[in-house]
Amino acid sequence: MSTLHGTNRFRVPSICLTVNLSRFNPACVLVTGGAGFIGSNYLLHMVARHPDTRFMNLDALTYAGNLMNLSSIDTHPNYAFVHGDITDVELLQGLFDSYPIDAVVHFAAESHVDRSIADARSFIRTNINGTHSLLDAARHAWSKAPSRPVRFHHVSTDEVFGTLGDSGHFTEETAYAPRSPYAASKASSDHLVRAYHETYGLPVVITNTSNNYGPFQFPEKLIPLVISRAVAGDTVPVYGKGSQIRDWLHVEDHVSALERVLLDGHDGATYLIGGRQEARNIDLVKQLLNLVDEALGRGPGTSHDLIEFVSDRPGHDYRYALDCSFVEKELGWTPSRTLEEGLRETVAWYLANQEWLDAVRDERYRDYLTLNYHSR
Ligand code: NAD
Ligand code: DAU
Repeated sequence: MSTLHGTNRFRVPSICLTVNLSRFNPACVLVTGGAGFIGSNYLLHMVARHPDTRFMNLDALTYAGNLMNLSSIDTHPNYAFVHGDITDVELLQGLFDSYPIDAVVHFAAESHVDRSIADARSFIRTNINGTHSLLDAARHAWSKAPSRPVRFHHVSTDEVFGTLGDSGHFTEETAYAPRSPYAASKASSDHLVRAYHETYGLPVVITNTSNNYGPFQFPEKLIPLVISRAVAGDTVPVYGKGSQIRDWLHVEDHVSALERVLLDGHDGATYLIGGRQEARNIDLVKQLLNLVDEALGRGPGTSHDLIEFVSDRPGHDYRYALDCSFVEKELGWTPSRTLEEGLRETVAWYLANQEWLDAVRDERYRDYLTLNYHSR
């Protein structure tokens, strides 16, 4: 099995600094979950910027997948969509046999913590079994041409590390301690990716990222949920007292980091990617409501009355925060937006894209609201 940079090491800064970086230049990238929130933002970014690379988007189009997100690139000659499931072993083998896939960028997952608490089965199936099927398909295909540069990029989350108190940051060396079924399924997938690297020499990179926000995010997640409900004059549910803290990263900053990691990252390395923009939930919700009020010409603070404190998420992680110095130092990446700028842009996007919101809030979205354990 080839490795990109001739080393199988995980993150060891002093060694990585001495490695001669040769840029990975993939010909054909299999992107999984490219119709979801981050995957579609990634494809919009990459397809235009890399016209000589072919991007194949494999997506099962669950409730979270939406081809509308990709309408601006769907006729590009270097983009193709494949409707299928990452647990379908024959489909995966057929794709690797038929196309010169030399990179996999793996986004496909069940991604919502509350849904995993209500029922974890699809999380185990997609996040664990699906990742395993994909790893196996890549390993078998790529072992036929061991000198070809190839790369498996696994997109993961900071939730694998569990929860922090008021101080400190997760680093690449933090021990895994997932606390929700979602986080446990992602931790399991990370372990499988590392195991394939160690056992079979599969060239991999892993990114663990903080909370993303921005265009095309499904309105079950906090930021689009608050915006869409406030615009409609519906109550805005805040779990517990809203005291939990998240580190927010605009999705376009995230995908620019993912581009750097795919092309320039070190084989076997883990990169933590965060926004360095921590906010307490209740403060974030009030900030968003102020922005909605301002955009709609409502009096300042009018929408604060919509806030409804509801029962807390079971096992609710208190705080996430990432030490991103490794990706900053190694790849020269930093986020370009402040949280205030990113939230302002995001409110404007959702206000300008009401049709998109109406289309994604179909019966599967409404079923979820009745399944959920929170009173709304
Ligand atoms: P999302 O829920 O918006 O999209 C997931 C996509 O995967 C959808 O298009 C869906 O149709 C597809 N999918 C689901 N199951 C599939 C299957 N079995 N086969 C093929 N496709 C399938 O998710 P997202 O928020 O864009 O997250 C993408 C990835 O990034 C996930 O792996 C998630 O764990 C990770 N991540 C997300 C965040 C965040 O804040 N959203 C932060 C860190 C990491
Ligand atoms: O940290 C990365 C993770 O961020 C990703 O791996 C997940 O895929 C992504 O969904 C996100 O997980 P969170 O659980 O942090 O995001 P969510 O938007 O669901 O919730 C953000 C915070 O807001 C969390 O503390 C719970 C709270 N919350 C959420 C919702 C949906 C509320 O108070 N009210 C709500 O209605």
